[in-house]
This record gives sequence, structure tokens and C-alpha cells, in this order.
Amino acid sequence: MVSSSRVAVIGAGSVGATIAYALLMRKVASEILLVDIVPEVVNGQVLDLSDSAFLGSTVVRGGTYKEAGQCDVIVVTAGAKQNPGESRTELIGRNYKILSSVIGSMQPIQKDAIIMLVANPVDILTSIAQKLSGLPKKQVFGSGTYLDSGRLRLLLSQKLNVSESSIHAYVLGEHGDSQFIAWDAAHVGGKPLLSFPVIQELDKDQVAKEVAGKAYEIIKLKGATYFGIAACVSSLTQCILLNQRHIRPLSVYHEKLGAVLSVPAVIGRNGIEEIFDIPLAKDEQAKLEQSASTLKEICAKYV
Ligand code: LAC
Repeated sequence: MVSSSRVAVIGAGSVGATIAYALLMRKVASEILLVDIVPEVVNGQVLDLSDSAFLGSTVVRGGTYKEAGQCDVIVVTAGAKQNPGESRTELIGRNYKILSSVIGSMQPIQKDAIIMLVANPVDILTSIAQKLSGLPKKQVFGSGTYLDSGRLRLLLSQKLNVSESSIHAYVLGEHGDSQFIAWDAAHVGGKPLLSFPVIQELDKDQVAKEVAGKAYEIIKLKGATYFGIAACVSSLTQCILLNQRHIRPLSVYHEKLGAVLSVPAVIGRNGIEEIFDIPLAKDEQAKLEQSASTLKEICAKYV
């Protein structure tokens, strides 16, 4: 465990609490602070989580927004969630207000803090948080299409009958309806993904639709998603705290495109350490630029 590894989770609903639980199981944080506007929810979640904390030595407790602002990693899940059939972008009005209030309540945020946005629409909220927090852009990023990429790799692993961890494939752009799969850059065991006959036979538009639509399907069936995103966020938090410098598709500020959206980035103790511009096919590059202009247009209304 890293000595200064205090993690604040803002929002103690299903997503925030599951992230806290996943972090407890990883035993990388010295302390997890759960923060929410409803104290009873925090108290209930902390009491329940504390019954699982015996597996490690992480302290889990309720905290204030001010205390959260002094943590090493601040995970922001607070916000309205999608109703069945609702797009992530439709949440921006409500969640912009919540994010503004959260960041204002945390100020002054300690200068080395890393802020990870999870609430949706995550790309737009990340852009807003970069402006409101006063921290360098590299220290404020979003979980982006890391979860979508995991959903893609799960589907491909079933087609190829190999482990997901051996499949290097990204969903990029918006964590939302304009996301796209970077087929050309994908590879498995040193071979281009598109060289596998079982992949060549796939309807790629259908695969993209299935991956982008998975959250809607889960929400329709159980009301929300939280296990997949919690697995992603706890892994990203570990990567920060242990300075593992993994490459992940994350919602970051892309200088050339002038927008916040998901591209492969190296993540470590200082946040986003480096951004990778991977080779994209012409149609994929066009989709990335389209994603960027859509997101820029919406952002302009808020910051
Ligand atoms: C999902 C939420 C995290 O894709 O946006 O499940």
C-alpha cells in the first residue's frame, strides 16, 4: 500500500459505493472517504462497507467535501443517472449544476490532487472540471471509454476464444453515442485483429452498436450500471496510486482537437502522463473529429 493514498469518492449511490468496495478489495488505499449530500446514505454505506474492510487495513469513513479536496485521488460519481432510453448527454443540465457545487465545496483543492470524473456525460463534465478545479489539465480526466473498450474486448474474447487481456482494442471518442471502434489499430498476440477470419466475418457496425448499447440494455433491465464502471475506476485508481503507467482510453484534453474525449493515454501518479496519437483509418479519424466537434459544441454552452 502507498503511504499517502487517500481516496475520496464523491457520491455514495450504487456507483460510488461499488467503487469504494472494489477499492477495498484491492487494498491500495490507506483511507477511503465517502462524501454525499445525504448523510444517512453515507452512514449506511460506510457501516456496510466497514464489514468488508477486515480483508485489508484500509480505513473507510464518511467525510466532508473540504476533506475530499485534500485527498490524493478524488473520484466524482455524484449526479443524476440515465433513465431507460435516456442518453448520457441529456444529463448535462442537472449534472453541470451538481459538479459546480461539488468542486466549489471542495476548494481549495490540494495542488497535487488527481480528479477522476465518472458522472455522465463524462467527457463534458471532465472539460468543465478542468476549468473549475484550477488544477493542471493532466490532473483532471474522466473514465471515458475504458469501460466501453472492456465491453468490446469481452465480446472479441468470446469470438476469438482468447483472454480479454490479450486483446488490445479500443473504443475511442465520446463515452456516448458517437463513440467508435479503432479496428485498424487493434491487435491480438502480435497479429492485426482484422487478420482473423472470425473477425473479418463480423458485422462491424453491429458490434459497435452492441458495445455502445450495452449500458442502455443493463439500465433497462436493472435500472443502472455499476459493477463494470467500478472495476474500471478501482483499476485506474490503483494505477495512479502505484504509478503503474498503464495505457488506457481515457477522457483527456486533446490539444489538436481542442476537446476532451477518449484517446489512449498513459496514467500514473501525476495523472495523465502522456497521450498517444494512434494510427486511425480515415473513417475512424473522421469519427474522432466528429466526436470532438459535437462535444466542443455542447461544452461551449457551459464553460
Ligand atoms: C456505463 C455508464 C458508466 O457505460 O456510462 O455503464
